[in-house]
Amino acid sequence: MTDYRTPLIAGNWKMFKTGAEAVQYAKALKKQVADVENTDIMIAPPFTALSAVSEILRDTRIGLGAQNIFWEKEGAFTGEISAPMLISAGCQYVIIGHSERRQYFGETDETVNRRLKAAANAGLIPILCVGETETQREAKKTFSVLDKQIKDGLNGLILDEHHPLVIAYEPVWAIGTGKTASPDQVQEVHAYIRKQIAKNFGNMLANAIRVLYGGSVKPDNVSGLMALPDVDGALVGGASLQPETFSQIIHF
Ligand code: 13P
Repeated sequence: MTDYRTPLIAGNWKMFKTGAEAVQYAKALKKQVADVENTDIMIAPPFTALSAVSEILRDTRIGLGAQNIFWEKEGAFTGEISAPMLISAGCQYVIIGHSERRQYFGETDETVNRRLKAAANAGLIPILCVGETETQREAKKTFSVLDKQIKDGLNGLILDEHHPLVIAYEPVWAIGTGKTASPDQVQEVHAYIRKQIAKNFGNMLANAIRVLYGGSVKPDNVSGLMALPDVDGALVGGASLQPETFSQIIHF
């Protein structure tokens, strides 16, 4: 059953790097991870660099992801990008519902759900981001917040073990702060997420989906996180911006 859960180390570049910088990075990373065999790798550059980076990643095991997607295929939606556009730019993955999108761009579980459906229907692998804020954790609302994000986010989605879904648990208080959640906190939440998936979608899917941890993952804390039974990978922000550092994380 664990066959589906090849570890995935994913880099979310956020709004960093021009096209030329992205190309230089991709060339360097390609060399540094040429020896990697049993770990899936993904980088998510800004939209403007996707096509150029995809040329360099061709025939490597480094996957390409986008940082967002719109649910319509085309139309008068200024500034938006659709699934067919991402696929033609070389993407296999798309990050959906990152806390920065929820916090600064008004995304809700409902819009996240529409994006997830568009991505899944187009054959992209969605990486659904969930996580509580510090205030919510202090108010002991972590699990109810996650319940809602998962239930409403995945509402009506047709999922089975052959339609891969990745969930990234990113406690908002751990993003870019240098504060990683403790191994106990991470394992507790990841096991809970898997239990919720089992409840809503059955054990087969719960055992097949990958649950990544994100929030201040660095070369010196990644192996402790990856050793946890319900952690299947990492979604890395700041430490994914240098190929050397990201490569160290990939070689956890
Ligand atoms: P940092 O690794 O910079 O904390 O960011 C995590 C993140 O938001 C990845 O999506």
